[in-house]
Amino acid sequence: MKRFCIVGTGGRGTSSFAAPILEEFSGRIALVGLCDLNPLRVEACKKIINAPDIPAYTDFKQMLDEQKPDGVIVTTKDSTHAEFVLECLKRNIAVYSEKPLCTTRQQCLDIRAAAAKSSAPSFVTHNLRYNPDIVPFKQMLLEGAIGDVKHILFTETLDRFHGADYFRRWHRFYDNTGSLLIHKASHHFDLINWFADSRPAIVTGQGTLAYYGKKGPFRGERCSTCPHADKCEMYADVFNDERTRMLYKDAESFDGYFRDGCVFDERIDIPDTYAATISYENGIVSSYSLIAYASYESMHIAAEGTKGRLEYLKRYGTSWAVGHKDTKASLANDGVDEDDSRAFIKLTEKGKKIEHIPITKVEGGHGGADPRLREALFWDAGTDPLGQRAPLEEGIQAVLLGVSVMDCIKAGGKAIDVQSGKFL
Ligand SMILES: NC(=O)c1ccc[n+]([C@@H]2O[C@H](COP(=O)([O-])OP(=O)(O)OC[C@H]3O[C@@H](n4cnc5c(N)ncnc54)[C@H](O)[C@@H]3O)[C@@H](O)[C@H]2O)c1
Repeated sequence: MKRFCIVGTGGRGTSSFAAPILEEFSGRIALVGLCDLNPLRVEACKKIINAPDIPAYTDFKQMLDEQKPDGVIVTTKDSTHAEFVLECLKRNIAVYSEKPLCTTRQQCLDIRAAAAKSSAPSFVTHNLRYNPDIVPFKQMLLEGAIGDVKHILFTETLDRFHGADYFRRWHRFYDNTGSLLIHKASHHFDLINWFADSRPAIVTGQGTLAYYGKKGPFRGERCSTCPHADKCEMYADVFNDERTRMLYKDAESFDGYFRDGCVFDERIDIPDTYAATISYENGIVSSYSLIAYASYESMHIAAEGTKGRLEYLKRYGTSWAVGHKDTKASLANDGVDEDDSRAFIKLTEKGKKIEHIPITKVEGGHGGADPRLREALFWDAGTDPLGQRAPLEEGIQAVLLGVSVMDCIKAGGKAIDVQSGKFL
């Protein structure tokens, strides 16, 4: 039986790792330690997963010393991942870091150097690679369905429920995440890198804060005490389910972490609108955009090759996001019926009928991606024909891309060499 520990017992640590390890890996993996800076949140996690006997820690090294785990899952605030990853690599413990692997170029270099000396097989939990919508896209590229890939378009639009959620808490400060180009776009950049099957070479980028922060009409400290609640489009009762209340509301007295901070807080220092162009070492060119206050929620990917064009479009509801627990209601709120929200993949070749590629619906978090990722990373060491497991170096490439686009934005749009960090 393997022994696993988790550091960071917030939403992701509790729901996507602690609970499923007990349920899906019973008899295979024992959860032997839970660590968080906030002891109240660890206790809330233990209550939620109904595991009162799992040892709780606030000191990560003490947990490693006492529990001697085979694997550690890192689900803390983004900017802190590197310190835990480095400690595990030093001790040759397999580490599974949530995306983004880290938030700065220096952390990338430190992790790369430590990984080269470590014997532990370690990965970044880039779960979109396991999404049943995305898998056929990668498979078709590998099979040469569009010939040699030349251009990749990638756009995600986050609506005012989901997108806003990144502006309610720690994600909204550059020091915690390095911006959404790292926190959120590490998903996207990882996919573009994976589809391109190459390392990013040169980027340019633009970004602005268009909707949240000081762009708001008024502001309070947090939704639950806000005098503008009645008239604010962004008001949300984020504590309307028990799990969120237990993890955040009941634990806030310890660290002052408000889960419902004002999205119009004037201290917000990251953009909510991003665009980038990327060139790859193998010659592929990509255009990218991310909007966090969009009219609807969607992901659009299109790859143009020498033989044809492969397109993926999904318009989805924010059923899981604050205040919208039901997919249908959430879509209806966006004026969309269920049919409009179905994902499609289309293959277009000149002179041929457009081919619709079937997508299999799978149950589980993130469209069925999370259970597949957990099985592939934590247990199944079998073949990996699509290269879905993301080793640390691939996590590094996603972060370097985000860091570079952000550096470019800060420098007024000057092109940058992703691998060296030098302006051109
Ligand atoms: N792959 C995905 O789809 C996905 C989805 C959600 C979140 N995530 C990632 O998971 C991570 C956690 O996100 P979340 O939504 O659960 O956040 P959260 O705020 O709910 O939880 C983070 C926890 O980390 C703890 N923490 C912060 N700094 C710490 C430190 N130095 N030592 C110990 N504990 C510390 C906090 O107290 C908190 O309990 C983030 O990195 C996020 O990017 C990934």
